[in-house]
Amino acid sequence: MKKETVLPAKSISGGIDLPGDKSISHRYAMLAGLAEGTSELRHFAAAADCHSTLACMSALGAEVKVEKGVVRVTGRGARGLKASSRALDAENSGTTMRLLSGILAGQEFTSKLTGDASLQKRPMKRVMGPLREMGAQITGRDDNFAPLEIRGAKLKAIDYKIPMASAQVKSAVLLAGLFADGVTSVTEPARTRDHTELALEEFGASIEKSGKTIRIHSLRGTNGGGTLVAKSLDVPGDLSSAVFWIAAASMFPDSHILIANVGLNPTRTAILDVFAAMGAKIKIPGLKSSHGEVIGDLDVQGTSLKGGVIEGDTIPLVIDELPMLAALGPCTEEGIEIRDAAELRVKESDRISALAENLRRMGATVEERPDGLKVAGRSKGKLRGAEIDPRGDHRIAMAFAVAGLAAEGSTVIRDADCAGVSYPTFFEEMKRLAQR
Ligand code: S3P
Repeated sequence: MKKETVLPAKSISGGIDLPGDKSISHRYAMLAGLAEGTSELRHFAAAADCHSTLACMSALGAEVKVEKGVVRVTGRGARGLKASSRALDAENSGTTMRLLSGILAGQEFTSKLTGDASLQKRPMKRVMGPLREMGAQITGRDDNFAPLEIRGAKLKAIDYKIPMASAQVKSAVLLAGLFADGVTSVTEPARTRDHTELALEEFGASIEKSGKTIRIHSLRGTNGGGTLVAKSLDVPGDLSSAVFWIAAASMFPDSHILIANVGLNPTRTAILDVFAAMGAKIKIPGLKSSHGEVIGDLDVQGTSLKGGVIEGDTIPLVIDELPMLAALGPCTEEGIEIRDAAELRVKESDRISALAENLRRMGATVEERPDGLKVAGRSKGKLRGAEIDPRGDHRIAMAFAVAGLAAEGSTVIRDADCAGVSYPTFFEEMKRLAQR
């Protein structure tokens, strides 16, 4: 368990190349494993989570070759996956477990899916429910938790209204829909990231969207074409990783960073609107489109952030960025308040509790609530360096490392290696970018 010490900085400056987008990499890896032929996935995420997905696809019979940032996956075809001889291990990755459950529900074999201690505490009933309705038999500990056993079946198409805003649940049902006997639809209560829909289209599936409903045609249907085709794809940089640098740069007036090739899919960019509303200086010099995804560079200058309230339908659109926003609270004028975000309690850690505990360790004034937290702004005093317990959660570790840059004294991040779940080079990058 490696500790990292973060010292106060004067500003953040330099050029940044981000790791490939985690959400997109998962989807490309899974669909490439179901496609016919060899897909080339360039700038594939370095994130440990996405390598868990690759390992699972390989255990299911896809051929996976990793060479620097390029991953080549030779798929087995939509009906060609084979039962794995051992339990599939999603490690820390909820996306791997939930999305793969959708695929495994439609296979004519039984699979076991497991994960690390954190993942074994995260709710899986949300995917077990609809996949059972489609005809798969799924058992789990306490009928909700991994390890899961999934007995695949010839699935039947359903129209599913998702009770919570979750891209993972939506994606599990859409992926299962590839193997169902007709057209499967999902309706979301609020918009969530649409990388699954875009990736399915890229790999040749037939999918339609109207409002908050998405329909997917089965590969088993006569006019569905029956196959997915291998693709050569570029993964954009991960905006959720960029947010740590946007936050860090925005804390110091003299900062200036340039972040190249960032994924700017409109279902992910609400965080840029949140920063803009707080007074951040972010410019996007140009946009291009690649495989259905939007990509652009970000030019961020330092400023003084106002703070604000984040709530309602914005929450699912910025769900992974909330730890950074909360940890930024004490460096803003008015503080940060997060409401309607009870989902944060079932992420890689109970993020509301982890944020409140560690912010208090740094001397911040925090009110913890069932569905969020209120963090007082600058008037309550500067953060003090402290020892941070990220509870094994990558985003908590990185959010507090950034907060440490603006604190008095040094901040020690325990178990800092956990950042590798999404951003293995985070601490090296921080040392390079922090000006002292
Ligand atoms: C993700 C969806 C979100 C997000 C997670 C990645 C995805 O989870 O928090 O980090 O790639 O679909 P939920 O669907 O549970 O909100």
